Amino acid sequence: MATYDLSNRSAIVTGGGSGIGRAVALELARNGASVLVADLVEASAAGVVAEIAEAGGTARAFVGDVADFDTNLAMVAAAVELAPLKVAVNNAGIGGEAAPVAEYSLDSWHRVVNVNLNAVFYALKAQIPAMLAAGGGSIVTMASVLGSVGIQGSSAYVTTKHAVIGLTKNAALEYSGQGVRVNAVGPGFIQTPLIDANLSAEAKAGLAAQHAVGRLGTPEEVAALTAFLASDAASFVTGSYHLVDGGYAAH
Ligand code: NAI
Repeated sequence: MATYDLSNRSAIVTGGGSGIGRAVALELARNGASVLVADLVEASAAGVVAEIAEAGGTARAFVGDVADFDTNLAMVAAAVELAPLKVAVNNAGIGGEAAPVAEYSLDSWHRVVNVNLNAVFYALKAQIPAMLAAGGGSIVTMASVLGSVGIQGSSAYVTTKHAVIGLTKNAALEYSGQGVRVNAVGPGFIQTPLIDANLSAEAKAGLAAQHAVGRLGTPEEVAALTAFLASDAASFVTGSYHLVDGGYAAH
């Protein structure tokens, strides 16, 4: 496992209480960052903070809804209390309902757009000034392989993940010259509670077969790429979309 120097900085991980976010929070802490584990669910965030503390790292829980702009401002203030903010992984996301476009409910559409897209804009708007004040930083947005291809029944999810990649590119164009890099990560299907909540065992087996490696990914495999992008080892990497998809998009 690669090791980076993420000391003397705080890192926000949204949706840090579960799945990919949990693995990212653990990995950033293992590399020395002081991690703000932000989640809607208090017990999840507290659980990950305890895991990090047990492993000898530094972390604090933050409970709130990323789809609220003021919550993002409060999150940044809480992170800056730990150390200068130089890393943010905007990872919180939801799947939404499964239905074709004409039957997709307005409620689910708006909630998915709020959590998966609007919240990432709020996060960037809150985080970038703090990173400029810290002398630079690295932001990772958690898109999906479904940021580059569609899948039946998930129009809101697919739309928001495509849009997050556009937002990522624009933020990178605007701030990389001032030392804030912004990149998107595109995981294939990863074995997490989100997948368990949305897919049957049969559907998961069918999806596994669509990855060239023949299986779903692990949260740790996404965390490894994310930690690289967060670190100074990726100093010339910005404005781009990085798949960690087991070959799903190679078809
Ligand atoms: P998960 O459901 O295991 O974890 C998501 C976490 O985000 C949960 O702890 C949840 O409480 C939190 N969360 C949800 N809405 C929130 C809100 N409004 N405010 C604050 N926290 C909130 O999900 P998973 O699978 O770890 O997904 C994480 C990210 O990775 C999502 O953006 C997802 O779209 C993306 N992704 C996941 C893939 C997968 O196959 N699991 C594939 C590609 C992308």
